[in-house]
Order: sequence, then C-alpha cells, then structure tokens
Amino acid sequence: MKAVVLVGGFGTRLRPLTLSTPKQMLPVVDRPMIEHVVAGLARHGVDEVVLSLGYRPDAFTDAYPDGRCAGVRLRYAVEPEPLDTAGAIRFAADAAGLDETFVVVNGDVFTDLDVSALWRRHHEVGAEATIALTPVDDPSRYGVVPTDPEGRVLGFVEKPPRDEAPTNWINAGTYVFEPSVLARIPEGRKVSVERETFPALVADGTLWAVRSDAYWVDAGTPETYLQIQLDLIDGRRGPAVPGVAPTARVAPSATVDHSVVMSGAEIGADARLVDAVVSPGAVIGAGAVVDRSIVGPGARIGEGAVVTGLTIVGAGEEVPAGARSEGQRIPEPV
Ligand code: GDD
Ligand code: MG
Repeated sequence: MKAVVLVGGFGTRLRPLTLSTPKQMLPVVDRPMIEHVVAGLARHGVDEVVLSLGYRPDAFTDAYPDGRCAGVRLRYAVEPEPLDTAGAIRFAADAAGLDETFVVVNGDVFTDLDVSALWRRHHEVGAEATIALTPVDDPSRYGVVPTDPEGRVLGFVEKPPRDEAPTNWINAGTYVFEPSVLARIPEGRKVSVERETFPALVADGTLWAVRSDAYWVDAGTPETYLQIQLDLIDGRRGPAVPGVAPTARVAPSATVDHSVVMSGAEIGADARLVDAVVSPGAVIGAGAVVDRSIVGPGARIGEGAVVTGLTIVGAGEEVPAGARSEGQRIPEPV
C-alpha cells in the first residue's frame, strides 16, 4: 500500500511552536510526530509514503536525508504554493505517479485504526473513495459524516456549528482513494477535499465510510498535542513509554509528575512539573512550576516562575524569574 501523507499546513493553532518547526516535525515524547504517524501506517501494511509538503519542507528533507522514515520509503512532493487538501493530494499523487488505489492521511492524526480493514471494505463495496470515521463529543471542529446503515456516505459537512452537526461520527483523516478521484480535482488552484471533493462524491453516491472506535486523536491543537504525549506515557496508546529522556537532567529535589521531559532538558532544584511537556534543551529554573503547559525547545523558565493553564512557550523564549503566566502564548501572536 502506498500512502500520501499531508504535512504541508501552517500549523497555526500550535503557534508559536510551529513558527520555527512544521507541526508534524514537533517532538512527541521521543521522536518527531511524523515518525509516530508513519510507524502506525507501516504496522498496517503501508510500505511507501509520499510526503505532501508545503510549509517548511526542508525540516523534513533534512531529517530524513536517506528517504526513509520509521523504516518506510519516503518520497517528497513539494507544492510551489499551498493547494489545500485536495490540491495537495492531486499534486503529490501526480508527482509520485500513483495510478492504483492508494491511502491518504492527515499527518497530524494519532490513531490505531486498521487501514487494511478500510482498504478491504473499500474494495468490497466498489467505492471510489472510503473514509474512516471516529466518534467525538464535539463534532464542530471536524468534518461530520452521516451514512446509511451499510456505510454509504449521505453528506459531508466540514466544521458545522455545534448544534447543526447531524451525527458525532467525524472524518478521521484517513482515506482510501481510487485514482479516478484525482481527475475530479481541478489543477493549479486551492481545492479542499472536505469542502469540494467529498461533497461531489456524495452527490454521485460513490463515497463510503467505515466506523472505528480505535484510539484516535488529531494532535493539531495545544490541548491535543499535550494529550497525545500524556497518553503515550500513560500507556493509553500501546505500552507505556518513559516520560523522561535518558539525557535529561532532573535535580533530585525536583518533582516530575505525569510529565514529559525531552532530551537534554534540565529541571532545577525544587522545580515542579505537572502534566507538562518540556521540549529538548529547555531549562526549568529552581523552584519554577510548569503545570499543564508546553515549554518549547531551548526555552528557559526563570527561577520561581509559574507557567500554567496551557501556556505555550516558544522555542528559545524566556519567562523571567518569578513571573506568572497563565494560558499565554509566548511570544503572543501578532
Ligand atoms: N500539502 C499540504 N498543502 N498540506 C496541507 C495543506 C496544504 O495546502 N493544508 C493543510 N494541510 C495538511 C495539514 O498539515 C494536516 O496534516 C492536514 O492537511 C489536515 O489539515 P488540518 O489543518 O490539521 O485540518 P483539521 O484538523 O482542521 O481538519 C481536518 O482533519 C480532521 C480530522 O483530524 C479535516 O480533514 C476534517 O474533516 C477532519 O475531521
Ligand atoms: Mg488536524
């Protein structure tokens, strides 16, 4: 199976972390996000990935210079300008010469969903495209997908107002496509697969879906970028992984409670971390508190500072000693 993995977005919701690093290259416990995603695809039989790149493509090509990621062969398709999701799929599929059934995934989705089962169902019903669905409490930030009992898709509504969502089963960002879908995507302009291509397939009755209760999180917001990491150390997705990197330095009097401390980070005396993510090379000063917040690569939290309420400290930024920061982005977006 070949897969197009979309990783070209700007990652706006994760700024300032994504000002220097594209979303799918942000670290997740011990590896960049994309390695977790590609490893998940490999477990279900994907053996070649076409990375659909736009924003900061060099971050990917520099990280995988031999064209392999998580043991899977990579190809790169770099858009000259952002083409949106369908435009990006067409551009990448054309660049890689895909002319048989292929998989498409949003590169920020952490999931155990069974891609091979999706692939089988796709062929069983003779679909033109088949999408995986997952249940969520609040469908309003996703693509909402009502189906008939067999799984034929009856509608596709991207990000409807909360009280207008017809179901809580949403687009899980994993698809199987026939190459015929590509011909439906106009070239040379932005085209959204969610707003144009899927509704067109629904109108023709050729879009199918498969529901799944497997682990699923879209890691594209501060809440969920934090959540996937705590889930990994909690063993809520696979066997629990250690939260503190072997090369991190944690003072014996510091408290690390339910937190991730990445490579080369330093946690000072009497500092306290709770539900925190401390990125590579960040320094937490003595007596500082980081609570349900994300400290970016190489950032410094001064002595006695308190960082809480989903604050995000950008790469290399500094929170002064004794300062208090609640729910802030540092620096604030302009
Ligand atoms: N190459 C390329 N070019 N990639 C892009 C572009 C583009 O112009 N725009 C977005 N992407 C990539 C992003 O990097 C991400 O991996 C993926 O496409 C989806 O974009 P997001 O910005 O993460 O979309 P979303 O989370 O708001 O919504 C999408 O995902 C939900 C499930 O996670 C939609 O597909 C929803 O329908 C879906 O429910
Ligand atoms: Mg997303």
